[in-house]
Amino acid sequence: MISQGNFLYRPLEIRSYKGHAVRFKSLCHRLGFVFEMTTISAPSEPHRAVRWWLICVAALIALMVLVGGATRLTESGLSIVEWKPVTGTVPPLSEAAWAEAFEAYKKIPQYRELNSGMSLSEFKTIFWWEWSHRLLGRFIGVAYLLPFLFFLWRGGLSGELKRRLWLLFALGGLQGAVGWWMVASGLTARVEVSQYRLATHLLLALLIFAGIVWTVRRLKERPQIAAPARLRFTSALLLVVTFVQIYFGALVAGLRAGRAYNTWPEIDGAFIPAAERLWFETPWWRNMFDNVLTVQFEHRMTAYALFVLALLHAIDAVGSRAGAAASGALWLFAAVSVQAVLGVLTLLNQVPIGLALTHQAVAIVVLTLAVMQVERLASRQSAQAQPRVVPVSQPG
Ligand code: HEM
Repeated sequence: MISQGNFLYRPLEIRSYKGHAVRFKSLCHRLGFVFEMTTISAPSEPHRAVRWWLICVAALIALMVLVGGATRLTESGLSIVEWKPVTGTVPPLSEAAWAEAFEAYKKIPQYRELNSGMSLSEFKTIFWWEWSHRLLGRFIGVAYLLPFLFFLWRGGLSGELKRRLWLLFALGGLQGAVGWWMVASGLTARVEVSQYRLATHLLLALLIFAGIVWTVRRLKERPQIAAPARLRFTSALLLVVTFVQIYFGALVAGLRAGRAYNTWPEIDGAFIPAAERLWFETPWWRNMFDNVLTVQFEHRMTAYALFVLALLHAIDAVGSRAGAAASGALWLFAAVSVQAVLGVLTLLNQVPIGLALTHQAVAIVVLTLAVMQVERLASRQSAQAQPRVVPVSQPG
């Protein structure tokens, strides 16, 4: 730990890769170089590679979420009715294979009730969307696992970092299973997938994404920001509300609830709709997941809450002169505002694919900024406790 003015430097990973970083730093000290805050925090070489690898995986996950959104918005998600993790990589290569895939699709309720009479070329379009989504999922698995194995083999990762990375890998595997669980819900009785499962699928994808963003941030040494505990609390609350809002957004998407009540700020003729229309299903809580009006209403209300919270947090951060946390709070507030405007436009225009995908993309931006803000304000002591720290005087 290095103390400088108001700042405490608590590196996540002090152990050097085969001692190179320590030797480099002591050489610099011997040569009389003074490390600036930024250079002191520059990661040692192996961690630079780990950070870039994780940033690439996070970018791939964001792309995956968008391809998943396009797959849903083009109603393509049920076009492949089986799950073959390895052989499914190969698409139909002959006319006979295409006919077979099309025949399998014709057996599910979605074809019979919504797409009966669809041509083979129309089927191919929805097939390619779903196939690309699954292929990208497999690619992310490989893009995660191979470099991870390499880093494990090369050494230099702390026990805590390894545990985190294994956990993220396991969650990625679980996400594949949740994806199939979601598709399976639309193959027998329903014409589309269950909105609960779709929301779980999106939430898990974004939990993994958030975990990676957090890990990337923690791999770089940064000064502890001296900020009131209140700011820490509101940043954490903002992150929780963002996740709740994403979950509700996925329910809106899964229920196609954005194609109804296309007015704003009124919904069903009022700012707050009639209670008997909001809560007519029993038990009452089912309305929160099943009732198109209630689901859209809760997504709007949570958006307003997020907006007010982000505004108060930004005012507080600027007023507290919280340095990087003040600019982080302003960026977060700006992103939430843009996202709210996009949500309203998506709704008023009855969910055109371009706007809906932009709304989804900016949700990822909001989440990224919210994670960064919590991480920025969070105590850096926990990170210190995790890695193995080799005292300078210890031999070897
Ligand atoms: C301000 C914070 C907001 C966040 C973080 C957010 C997030 C999301 C997310 C993650 C989805 C799911 C996208 C998908 O699964 O494809 C969604 C869907 C949706 N949101 Fe929002 N939203 C916000 C505000 C709003 C507002 C203010 C409105 C309108 C008043 C709105 C209207 C919609 C609509 C209509 C959909 C369904 C789009 C579709 O079917 O693809 N959102 N939102």
